[in-house]
Amino acid sequence: MSGPILIFDSGVGGLSVVKALREQMPGAPLAYVCDNAALPYGTKPDIWLVQRIVQVCRAAVAASGARVLVVACNTASTLALDALRAALTIPVVGTVPAIKPAAALSRSGVIGLLATSATVTRPYTDNLIRDFAGHCTVVRVAADGLVEQAERLLAGEPVDGAVIDAGLAPLWHAPTLDTVVLGCTHFPLLRDRLDARAPRPLQWVDSGSAIARRVAQVAGAVEENRPEHLAPAWATDPRPAGLPHGFRAFGFAPPVALSVPLPQPV
Ligand code: DGL
Repeated sequence: MSGPILIFDSGVGGLSVVKALREQMPGAPLAYVCDNAALPYGTKPDIWLVQRIVQVCRAAVAASGARVLVVACNTASTLALDALRAALTIPVVGTVPAIKPAAALSRSGVIGLLATSATVTRPYTDNLIRDFAGHCTVVRVAADGLVEQAERLLAGEPVDGAVIDAGLAPLWHAPTLDTVVLGCTHFPLLRDRLDARAPRPLQWVDSGSAIARRVAQVAGAVEENRPEHLAPAWATDPRPAGLPHGFRAFGFAPPVALSVPLPQPV
């Protein structure tokens, strides 16, 4: 296999998975694509989203010559993995909420799932909870507002603490809750902020390192990338002035345009 490992998300959230990939596979060639013209995914209708995700990933795999696609987005993975695997010839690794490790870590058996509106209500998520956290109480919290705050942080803009407080608030109704699944890849980027604003200490669990281990298995031997090289990146809307800021911080070049017309609204 040749070509880079392509990381896909609606926005900058996949960069939290990049961090884990770089730790697991230092020097592996990476490429990044974000569908920020359609951000956020978490509040879009499923039928529209599947069509959009397949179109963008097809175009990005062709543009990058990728060997593996990492869907670094829970909202996309809990919906469109089958459609992507049917549409592409390269291996596809998804990102789904880390319910299993969180259930194993929790002492109280009360865990939170902080994710987008779409992810918290998906049948895929119901099945994860049934299969791996049947003995736990799972408090599902839709925290779509945090997605924009992570985008702001990576663009070098101030984060609004009130939005973070509002996103976390439902968790505090469960007094014995001790572990929270960060079930949206944007949220680990805010982890210090979440920690700082939590009124009591919690264990935050994300899928980054598990995804990185899986990618290392499927990617095979990788040639070393010269570290001084910025990795290539694409965005469906490369215009936002803050976009290159976060990309550079994670070793990516300013994103270039990936032109994929938006499907008709359903
Ligand atoms: N980063 C994506 C996820 O993991 C979602 C953000 C969005 O709503 O677009 O779910």
